[in-house]
Amino acid sequence: MKNFEVYFYNLLKKIIKKKTGLHEPVFINKDFNYVKSCIKSSYVSTRGKFTNKFEKEISKITKSKYIVATNSGTSGLELALRTVGIKDNYEVLVPALTFVASVNSIKFCNAVPHFVDSETSDLGIDVLKLNEYLKKNTFKKKNFLYNKISGRRIFAIMPVHIFGMPCNIIGIQKIAKKFNLKVVEDATEALGSKFKGKQMGTFGDIGVLSFNANKIITTGGGGALIIKNKKDYNKALHLSTTAKVRHKWRLQHRNIGWNIRMPALNASLGYSKLRNFSKILIKKRNLAFRYRQLFKNTSLSFFEEKKNVKSNFWLNTIILKDDQVKFRKKILDYCNLKGIECRPAWNLISEMKIYKKNPKSNLDNAIRLQKKIINIPSGLNLF
Ligand SMILES: Cc1ncc(COP(=O)(O)O)c(C=O)c1O
Repeated sequence: MKNFEVYFYNLLKKIIKKKTGLHEPVFINKDFNYVKSCIKSSYVSTRGKFTNKFEKEISKITKSKYIVATNSGTSGLELALRTVGIKDNYEVLVPALTFVASVNSIKFCNAVPHFVDSETSDLGIDVLKLNEYLKKNTFKKKNFLYNKISGRRIFAIMPVHIFGMPCNIIGIQKIAKKFNLKVVEDATEALGSKFKGKQMGTFGDIGVLSFNANKIITTGGGGALIIKNKKDYNKALHLSTTAKVRHKWRLQHRNIGWNIRMPALNASLGYSKLRNFSKILIKKRNLAFRYRQLFKNTSLSFFEEKKNVKSNFWLNTIILKDDQVKFRKKILDYCNLKGIECRPAWNLISEMKIYKKNPKSNLDNAIRLQKKIINIPSGLNLF
């Protein structure tokens, strides 16, 4: 088709009536009131009451007892890896098709990202392919898994729920059990996404959320760990607060710790947003429904949920057909020029110079998928 980009843009215009970013945050009066009340209290940093209140709301939404809020999803992922016991030179399996922060968090721990391929139907790790790959390329010693080529221990796997779409988390759990791997679930894009009614981020040993400005709800910048047991909770909380020994006045630190707990000022905004979360989620799913209807009888395919899965549709995604891939650049150029921000998926992280020599499986699906994805505006400012 000639002028495919114009066709694409005109379709979007049926829903999008004004210039828009990909996922703009929206604020309501209540948000201002909670932030104001935090400022008035003068406790704007991590000792303020809103950090705990925010964690309690996450706890309710995710039905998880132990939550530690952090100042970003990236710091949250690093903290999660440290909490489950990562050591220097351990390898962590991670999809090549993800945001760079998933991979960097591994590197921050002096560990080694080991790239694996993606599954076309949900964009998450391709579990069947991974199973075959691990059978061929690893060995077990004293019940631990090792990479045959590098000789390093493969310690963990980091599944990512791309654009909010749940990956095959049950398959990941099976792999983790079979090969004795820890699971740190990158659910940064997936607050409100579920598998069989259970929140993503609650399946792994630890799951991590993000509240960056572009996420389904924002705290300006922020993250949270969803933790399974008290021991890990205590460790994560301790490490995130300079490893300070709890005492009324003594200033003593037990370890090298980080200062990455979410400040109350950020949490006050998040608290307000979370109290409204069920309504936000309904609106997000409504928008996805409208897009689905829009693309229904067209040659474009809207990226859909599989059985038993509910996505938060953080981003709505179009997967171009093979013969449409050639139009992608023009579509992106045209829509962005006209003020409707559309984006491709990330370039594969395994292609970055710093990660080029890292271990990796065959990445054919990820390479193909990367060329086909267009994310379209998905914020609630569209209502
Ligand atoms: C897949 C993925 N992982 C990690 C992060 C890092 O989160 P943050 O931006 O809160 O540091 C993000 C979000 O930006 C993300 O999309």
